Amino acid sequence: MKTKLLIIFGGASSEHEVSCMSAASVRRHLDETKYEIYQAGITKEGNWFLTDSPVSDIEDGSWIHNPKNRRAVLTADASIRGILILRENGTYETLPIDVVFPVLHGKYGEDGTIQGLLDLARIPYVGAGTTSSAACMDKAITKLIVGRTGVEQADFYLTDCHTFCADPEGTAKFAEVYFKGKYPLFVKPANAGSSVGISKAKDFQGLLEGIRLAADEDSKILIEEMIVGREIEVAVLGNLEPKASPAGEILSAGEFYDYESKYINTESKTQVLDDVSEEIQERLHQASLEVYKAMGCRGLARVDFFLEQTGRVVFNEVNTLPGFTSISMYPKLWEAAGLSYRELLDTLIGLAMETEG
Ligand SMILES: Nc1ncnc2c1ncn2[C@@H]1O[C@H](COP(=O)(O)OP(=O)(O)O)[C@@H](O)[C@H]1O
Ligand SMILES: [Mg+2]
Repeated sequence: MKTKLLIIFGGASSEHEVSCMSAASVRRHLDETKYEIYQAGITKEGNWFLTDSPVSDIEDGSWIHNPKNRRAVLTADASIRGILILRENGTYETLPIDVVFPVLHGKYGEDGTIQGLLDLARIPYVGAGTTSSAACMDKAITKLIVGRTGVEQADFYLTDCHTFCADPEGTAKFAEVYFKGKYPLFVKPANAGSSVGISKAKDFQGLLEGIRLAADEDSKILIEEMIVGREIEVAVLGNLEPKASPAGEILSAGEFYDYESKYINTESKTQVLDDVSEEIQERLHQASLEVYKAMGCRGLARVDFFLEQTGRVVFNEVNTLPGFTSISMYPKLWEAAGLSYRELLDTLIGLAMETEG
């Protein structure tokens, strides 16, 4: 019997479009002899539809206009373990689901919210659980947890919207003093993604503006020393005995890997890192597994680092649902390790079902 798999995509986050592209790619590579595939799209407003739209329409967002889309909701009722499809006349039908792949990035997708709903529904799902998703999404919490491991990270200063609004200049001054007047600094909202709200402050004025910008995205704000190094990413896969992939490198077209460099400027490139010593590869490998375990990850995560010229490995952040398009780093790194995209999906779904109950 085929496994009933529900892909959830889109979502009410700033990464809606990226999620549609990732989901299309996942859909394309799934083995249809093994899975009975259902697709639930969430609009930017947060409406749920069960859709039979072709992959290309999911990719470009036009699935939203499919007249055959049906309103559907994922119910938290554990006796149903599935979705309710709403009929025009106000009644509904139930569709049981064996496993969910939430191909959602950022807010409401990667932050523990949908994971919590799936936990209540008792439906196994691909990726990190509720607590781990929420902790990895929040850069401030991540910093505090990783700070208890042996893995190095940029020095940081935490502040919040309330403190800043009460005394903007004073708050920025405190941060400046903390870093002993050294610039540039990176200012980030604790919860965001795709570089939204992140800026590089080159002086006091920039710091002030950066905090204001970050405060628009989240009430918690993180200020970090700047790390000068290559941007490296490692793909981790597994539950209790995770494995790390070979490392990959980001070659950003912009001054840093901001939204424009990630999704607009096609000059940005990713490639497998093949010009460093085995010792450095090993260091990246160990650090990524240590972070993965400390953060309580499950299924998959991409762990991001800076590699300084001295060979020092500095942790940056962890993404529990990294980009999944065919050119995204996560599947690309596993392909480099000999695991095809299709095998990767089978592994992820297997890992999800392992955690059932
Ligand atoms: N401390 C830092 N030093 C140097 N560059 C940084 C630092 N923090 C972030 N960056 C740059 O900003 C980009 C986005 O920051 P990141 O923390 O990865 O947020 P996001 O979750 O939006 O990807 C990074 O890929 C990197 O180019
Ligand atoms: Mg990042």
